Amino acid sequence: MKPLHALAMPTLGAALMCLPLLAGAQETDPDTGLLKAEGWETVRNNCTACHSAKLVTQNSGSRNHWQYLIRWMQDTQGLWEFEDETEEAILDYLAEYYGPKEDTRRPALPRTLMPDNPYPTVTDPG
Ligand code: HEC
Repeated sequence: MKPLHALAMPTLGAALMCLPLLAGAQETDPDTGLLKAEGWETVRNNCTACHSAKLVTQNSGSRNHWQYLIRWMQDTQGLWEFEDETEEAILDYLAEYYGPKEDTRRPALPRTLMPDNPYPTVTDPG
């Protein structure tokens, strides 16, 4: 009988490889990673000047959450004021495509985005 982790790792790997297929129905912009759907260019034009679009795409939340973040950036981080129409387009897009996760666990970060693991790891569990 193999130890469980020996079985779990290949299974996890296979599951991860399927993720792009599951997400693949919707095209993403190769430069920003934003889902190409109505409003995405408005988001790109207004939300990637100061920080990476990854900060946007890694976040999720309700319309209120996004509006709260926008107000916070406007109040404290120098984000400009939007025309009502522009803000609506941004919030519609974010709430629709980066809305609250049904699962409370966010998806695993890609390895390249993970901080270095400060703990010793067992590379060969024998
Ligand atoms: C004027 C500069 C500026 C613009 C434009 C801007 N942001 Fe930010 N944003 C910031 C700064 C500064 C932070 C804090 C970054 C950090 O903590 O490293 C931030 C942080 C964030 C975060 C992370 C918040 C958290 O909880 O950690 C999100 C999400 C975000 N911005 C989304 C957006 C969206 C969506 C837009 C477009 C509507 C936008 N940003 C436009 C300056 C900006």
